[in-house]
Amino acid sequence: MIESLNQQFCIDKSISIVAGNNNLPKIILSHQSGSTAEVYLHGGHVTGWSVPGVGDVLFLSRESLFVQGKPIRGGIPICFPQFGGRGSLPAHGFARTSEWSLIHSELSDNGIVSVELQLNDTPETLAIWQHSFILKLRVLLDSRALSIELEVMNKDKQSFDFQVALHTYFSVKDIKKTAVIGLQGVTYMDALQDLAESVEFAPEIRFGRETDRVYVNTPDKLKVDDGGNARVITIEKYNVPDVVVWNPWVEKSQRMADFGNDEYLRMVCVETGRIADPVVLGHNERWEGRTVYTC
Ligand code: BG6
Repeated sequence: MIESLNQQFCIDKSISIVAGNNNLPKIILSHQSGSTAEVYLHGGHVTGWSVPGVGDVLFLSRESLFVQGKPIRGGIPICFPQFGGRGSLPAHGFARTSEWSLIHSELSDNGIVSVELQLNDTPETLAIWQHSFILKLRVLLDSRALSIELEVMNKDKQSFDFQVALHTYFSVKDIKKTAVIGLQGVTYMDALQDLAESVEFAPEIRFGRETDRVYVNTPDKLKVDDGGNARVITIEKYNVPDVVVWNPWVEKSQRMADFGNDEYLRMVCVETGRIADPVVLGHNERWEGRTVYTC
């Protein structure tokens, strides 16, 4: 499989497909600047993004599983068509545990390296979500930016609704020196308080305990200040109104089998999605959303 993928999609010095963990196919994108990104077909999952002089921007748990049917812990899991446990599907839906297809690779004139992956309904997805759909993921790598585009098409005769999110895990040097900036004044639902609503008063969200909040209709530009590494990651989003801020802290880390007990100290999830107000798509309609990370 890896050989035939390379025959179709390999681009010299820019894109190659290798055997990743547990021999799962992994696409490596390399930009001429030296930045790289990695994407597994399993889950359509970006597991790494590295920038010269900055290092690894994404967190990947040392305990992560790389097995069919289970999500990867870290990187950028795709939540679709359900966010978390807000419905009858498995947590965060099935996209992150499905096997995706690579359908396009490109090195554009401006040097951006990109791939497009696709997920369609299968007998397995139809058994739990009776809708025919196409979900496309585009990953575009520039010298200091990583763009993630998602596109959903309704191939059903009926309309359907869905939630969607990029569950992005950022690598930070020290969670106690980390801040999420740009959510002041935004209403959030606190998953640790039965989704009770509050308004964020802090100009900078800092971490000293478990945090699990959905901020609704946020500004489109946010920052993750990784103070321990003296670096700031900018998040810009388009047509994705909501932001989840999550850190499991001590006890939840211990409860998660695929996450190291101490790893909460070196990660924060800042997720961009459409969660509070699900997207409704009619027959042949299309929805698109994009998030751009820069550092
Ligand atoms: C976050 C949720 O997005 O994902 C949390 O807000 C959840 O409640 C976390 O614990 C991780 O979920 P999972 O299914 O990957 O363990």
